[in-house]
Order: sequence, then C-alpha cells, then structure tokens
Amino acid sequence: MKKNIIAANWKLNGSIKTISYFLTSLKSKISSFSKKSAIVIAPPTVFLERVYKEINNTNVYLGAQNIDMNLTGAFTGENSALMMKDVGVKYIILGHSERRLFHNENNEIISKKFCLIKNLNLIPILCIGETEIEKKSNKTENILKKQLNFILNSFGKKAFRNTVIAYEPIWAIGTGISADPKSVQLIHKFIKNHIKKYDTISAENLIVLYGGSVNALNAEDFLKQPDINGLLIGSASLKCEEFLKIIKISDNVL
Ligand code: PGA
Repeated sequence: MKKNIIAANWKLNGSIKTISYFLTSLKSKISSFSKKSAIVIAPPTVFLERVYKEINNTNVYLGAQNIDMNLTGAFTGENSALMMKDVGVKYIILGHSERRLFHNENNEIISKKFCLIKNLNLIPILCIGETEIEKKSNKTENILKKQLNFILNSFGKKAFRNTVIAYEPIWAIGTGISADPKSVQLIHKFIKNHIKKYDTISAENLIVLYGGSVNALNAEDFLKQPDINGLLIGSASLKCEEFLKIIKISDNVL
C-alpha cells in the first residue's frame, strides 16, 4: 500500500536546544502512530547527524534541504549528495522556490542535482510550482510541464520512479494563504497524467505532496484528496505538537 509522506522542511530554523526538545517529544509519541505515514525531517545541514541519531530505526527518515552540483572537490562551503548519504540522509529536497529565487537555481541546475541524487539511490523531493502572476494568466500547467520535462529530458523516461514530487504554488509558501484542495487535486492529477505519457509505472507509484501554508487545520482537506499523497510543511513543522497533529490526521485519512 502506498504511504502518505509527511515531510518537515525546517529551512533556516532551529538550535541544538529546540531540536532536542522537538525530537524528545516526537519520539515519545511516535509509537502511538500507525506507521501508515512515512515521516521525513529535513533540518539545516549542520544538525543532520544529530537528528539521525535520534530517529534511526524509526519510521522517521532524514531529509536534506540542498546539495551541491558536485560530489567532491574545491567548492568551499558546499555539501554533496555523497556526504548526505554518508550521514544517513534518504530524501533530498530540490527545486524549492526559495532556492530558485535566492540562489538562482534554474531548471538546468536542478536537473543536474536530480541526476546526482538518483545515481546515488537517494530519493529526490522535487519541488515544482507556479508564481501568482503565472497562475493568474492560466500558465500553471505549462510551467509545471516545463519543470517536469527538464528532468525527463536529462534523466530519461523513468526519472520519476521512486521519486517524490512536491507541488508548491509559490504564492502559497509562507503566506498563510494555502491553495484550494480541490484545485490542488486537479493539478496533482495533471502531474501524474503528464508523467504517465512517459512511463506508466512511475505514474502509478508516484507520490505527489502538496506544500504551501499547510497547518493542522487545513491538512485533512488536502489529505482527503485521492491524488494528494502527503504534505511538505514549512513553518507548521517547527512546532512539534502541530506536526504530530498533522501526522495523526494523515494516519486517520488512510
Ligand atoms: P510553509 O512552507 O508551510 O511555511 O508555507 C512550505 C515550504 O516551503 O515547503
């Protein structure tokens, strides 16, 4: 059975103190969950090992927020997919709009990183989504198609096997204005149908998450939709109680 994925993107937040408080609370409750949902926590890189030690052997998996385009070498300040794998990372978020915007990551860079991740048998969480202007001018499907095609053209038709996609409309991220769950359902269907044209197996097993101002109050409306297979959560994932509520909701809707 396909599991929902509930993923926490902590972005540039947290300290040793807040993270250890979070993990202690999470671990004390996690055994009461049904394990129908897989949980991913993507802390800042400096805290990866600390988080891994706490979650190892549970149904919580380690996620990274970014990797460099190279595996090793003279690239001061960077971390590679190889290093992520070494410290226990299983999922790597890429193509997040904050990286596209603040770090000038274009579809070409993103597809290079995608290939590195896949070649190491790690799982990409590929973020795609449109801006508000693109949405208002009815360009959403074209933008998503372009973002997906870059990946399909560089990695091949089977690129989306064992891969997670996160549909994150840029206008919904961190704004408190989430997208309408029924519209998101249609977009997720569109994503799956587009991928199906290239590879049926990828499409059938594809996990497509929604991200953008998700919280414990709106999570259920998203997770009730048949093609929303989980959530990528920013600010609401920083509060353990709220994150736990969302996991419980996910378990209950399955
Ligand atoms: P948000 O962030 O939940 O704070 O809107 C989501 C994301 O950026 O992945």
